[in-house]
Amino acid sequence: MDGPSGSGKSSASKGVARALGLRYLDTGAMYRAMTWWMLRSGVPVEDADAVAARAQDPVIVSGTDPDAPSISVDGRDVSEPIRTREVTNAVSAVSAVPAVRARLVELQREIMAGGGIVVEGRDIGTVVAPDAPVKVYLTASEEVRAARRAKDLAADPGASVTVTQAEQARRDRLDSTRKASPLAKAADAHEIDSTELGLAEVIEAVVRLAKEHE
Ligand code: C5P
Repeated sequence: MDGPSGSGKSSASKGVARALGLRYLDTGAMYRAMTWWMLRSGVPVEDADAVAARAQDPVIVSGTDPDAPSISVDGRDVSEPIRTREVTNAVSAVSAVPAVRARLVELQREIMAGGGIVVEGRDIGTVVAPDAPVKVYLTASEEVRAARRAKDLAADPGASVTVTQAEQARRDRLDSTRKASPLAKAADAHEIDSTELGLAEVIEAVVRLAKEHE
């Protein structure tokens, strides 16, 4: 399941995994974990060569339980720190570096090898799993996506809808225009627009698609 930020991918893909008894992988969390580690290690994230030189260093481990998603770096649980605005605003620069993508895509494919998994990201249908039996591209209007993000960040006083919308537009622009595996809808993906749909309806639509492919 691919799509831009705030499209509802996380809630929908976790819900689909639960409904079908499948595993779940949040690849965005892996790029965030890499970014958190770079920032913490003092690597200038706008310097692609400096980021590439350290891309092999952090040990990133992702859980696959949709009821208890987990992500750790060098043994430390980073589920919370990877959601800060600092990481969110730096992640597109780090994820645009080909050495970072090569490292994380390899990890993702190892985790996906057993099958039976719902994977969310930006390039899953196009690059990571071009042979996935069911591909979904989830969208929503920019306003709805910004409102969802602002709700996620309600505890952060700087995260008004306007600020969030501007930061999100910048992140989507960087993610869609980068050279390495930009956000894109795979030719054979089913597009679902969640602007007017509730979470349960999105999950139901994806579950229906999955059942058709059984
Ligand atoms: O999904 P989430 O918003 O947590 O993703 C954070 C960032 O990770 C995205 O903005 C994008 O830069 C990067 N990403 C990516 N490829 C993926 C998943 C996420 O480049 N498959």
